[in-house]
Amino acid sequence: MNLERIGKYRIVGEIGRGTMGEVYRALDPDLNRHVALKTLSARVRPDDEAFKRFKREAQAAALLSHPNIVTIHEFGEERGILYMAMELLEGTDLRDAIDNGRLRTLDEKIRIMDKVLTALEYAHIKGVIHRDVKPANIHLGPADQVKIMDFGLARISTSEMTQDGIVLGTPNYMSPEQALGDKVDGRSDLFSTGAVFYELLTGHKPFEADSTPSVLFQVVHRPPPPVRRWVPDVPMPLVDVVEKALVKDKKLRFQSAGAMRAALAAARPGAVLQAPPLPARPSDSVPPALHVPAPRPATPPPIPTPLERPSAARRGRRLGAHPLMAGVALALLAVAAIAVTVAVRGLPVRRPISPNTSSGPIVRKRCGRPSGPASWEAAAASTSASPTTMRGGR
Ligand SMILES: Nc1ncnc2c1ncn2[C@@H]1O[C@H](COP(=O)(O)OP(=O)(O)O)[C@@H](O)[C@H]1O
Ligand SMILES: [Mg+2]
Repeated sequence: MNLERIGKYRIVGEIGRGTMGEVYRALDPDLNRHVALKTLSARVRPDDEAFKRFKREAQAAALLSHPNIVTIHEFGEERGILYMAMELLEGTDLRDAIDNGRLRTLDEKIRIMDKVLTALEYAHIKGVIHRDVKPANIHLGPADQVKIMDFGLARISTSEMTQDGIVLGTPNYMSPEQALGDKVDGRSDLFSTGAVFYELLTGHKPFEADSTPSVLFQVVHRPPPPVRRWVPDVPMPLVDVVEKALVKDKKLRFQSAGAMRAALAAARPGAVLQAPPLPARPSDSVPPALHVPAPRPATPPPIPTPLERPSAARRGRRLGAHPLMAGVALALLAVAAIAVTVAVRGLPVRRPISPNTSSGPIVRKRCGRPSGPASWEAAAASTSASPTTMRGGR
């Protein structure tokens, strides 16, 4: 497209070319500032249903105001060309950074994903779905700035407007429900975010094949190769986050960007893990929305949390209680038997316990039976020890 002006904007130069059209550096004469002007190669008429729908979506996206989302200044249409003016960003995008091996540390990768999820959490709460989360739509600016671009724009590549020659974007990051043409919600964006994270960690896309239909088949039917097949030392908690994001069934994925972000924060190497609520082990009864995968350190096996330790100790005490009590009972029996033998032999005539002895009433009152030799006998008789043994002792 060779243009000098689109709407009120004066084209200064071309920045790049994407799946939906070109992006130009342009001058806004009113405010005398440079903007990025994106044109969409769909040719539409303002009364088209598709155009109206796109406009509604664009208006919702334009209302988003977040440090990790590119600011939209204006949408318009001229001579059947849709255009969008947005803040002009310095820097590069994540696609370029991955391809040129510019992201070196795990911490850097986690930080980018955290900011992406922060932006998605905000947008989803406002009811806006991105629909095309992929490395090329994640901008990396100076001072560790991360911004998501093209919110809601993928909408334009669906239904009627595809007939006008728009090439569907790369399917590598699409969710299964998107690939099947089903209704999508925020969980679809989380699948795509998981696919981006997979690539960040491994250097490979989770679903790769020679043709678009083959990729789509994998997206819908095949699990991605395990993360550790590519990079064996990726910490297991991070593997868990990626795998949960990439589950085919959206009901079993993270149910919100906030939940995925929390899981990522907990999985960050060196993160101080909060003690999980009792019961300590997450069970299947925990709803998926609340389930944060328990981190699985490779080695050594997990040290019980302070909340787990007392219950384990209690379990141990319960297990040891029976043999110990049996031993004490046997020892008491033996002592009782010896005492009875000595008492019987030493006292030829057994005297009844006098209620007038100083300790008698008190003891009776306290224990319900008198102390002294008779009580020893009674105690001995009430045990399960053999009567023969008792008698034989005499
Ligand atoms: N607001 C912006 N500021 C600066 N560069 C941008 C902006 N938006 C897009 N670009 C760049 O323009 C090129 C094409 O973008 P885009 O059409 O969104 O591609 P894609 O279809 O792959 O998402 C990319 O290199 C992208 O980084
Ligand atoms: Mg883009």
